[in-house]
Amino acid sequence: MKIIIHGIGGRMGAEVAKLALFGVRGSEVLAGVDPYGSFDGARCVGSFDELTERADCIIDFSHHSATKGLLDYAVKTKTPVVLATTGHTEDELEAVRLASEKIAIFHAANMSLGVALLIELAKITARTMPDAEIEIIEKHHDRKLDAPSGTALAIANAIKTVRDDAFFTYGRSGQAKRTKEEIGIHAIRLGNIVGEHEVIVGTDSQTITLKHEAHTRALFAEGALAAAEFIVGKDAGIYSMPDMIKI
Ligand SMILES: NC(=O)c1ccc[n+]([C@@H]2O[C@H](COP(=O)([O-])OP(=O)(O)OC[C@H]3O[C@@H](n4cnc5c(N)ncnc54)[C@H](O)[C@@H]3O)[C@@H](O)[C@H]2O)c1
Repeated sequence: MKIIIHGIGGRMGAEVAKLALFGVRGSEVLAGVDPYGSFDGARCVGSFDELTERADCIIDFSHHSATKGLLDYAVKTKTPVVLATTGHTEDELEAVRLASEKIAIFHAANMSLGVALLIELAKITARTMPDAEIEIIEKHHDRKLDAPSGTALAIANAIKTVRDDAFFTYGRSGQAKRTKEEIGIHAIRLGNIVGEHEVIVGTDSQTITLKHEAHTRALFAEGALAAAEFIVGKDAGIYSMPDMIKI
């Protein structure tokens, strides 16, 4: 599987390139596209116009403002895209929807396979134990600005799809007892923690704890290559992590 890495000079682009040098998921780097950076060990160009050969897939870890140019090239060459960049405007998301009528696009704000699994397992557990109480605890480094994390919210929202009456309580305090419908969400910030998410599901008789710990950013690169392998040869449309996970 020949890949183009859009944003190869960045932290994530370089992680993908490093894995592809080892042939992870059958990948090899055809080229990197990055107007402001490069990667030693792969051919790098400043724009898609400079590419003559075709790739099997484009993996994008660049900047959301570059999305429309990327999609123009992908539609013109009928190349599937793994869109891992975040922060898109409504206008850019509309361009993604339009392009997905012509090519396969895998779009996920969190490319971690492990997190995707955690979300599915949390959903199954919440559905299987409808009376159980649920708390979500997430831990991140002290530089993180947003709390709770987007992933904690994604877990909570996934649980809500199987529990109509669920509502979220952020960082509980005060005198009131919890109710069964409540999903507690708690954010901890300290030190250099890459990212941990824990879902605790409990009844009077038992407790289930589901936990994911990220050790390095490489997990996103591994997930992006798995996504690339998954969408090569797929029909036009938008795909995401749950499509890749069969439980
Ligand atoms: N989906 C996920 O799981 C996931 C995980 C980590 C990061 N991200 C997202 O991926 C993106 C990149 O993250 P990063 O940490 O590698 O950032 P980074 O700043 O280290 O790298 C971005 C790279 O994109 C390049 N770039 C900037 N503008 C460009 C353009 N117009 N065309 C092509 N390349 C351009 C830069 O030169 C740089 O090399 C961000 O949007 C980030 O939020 C997503």
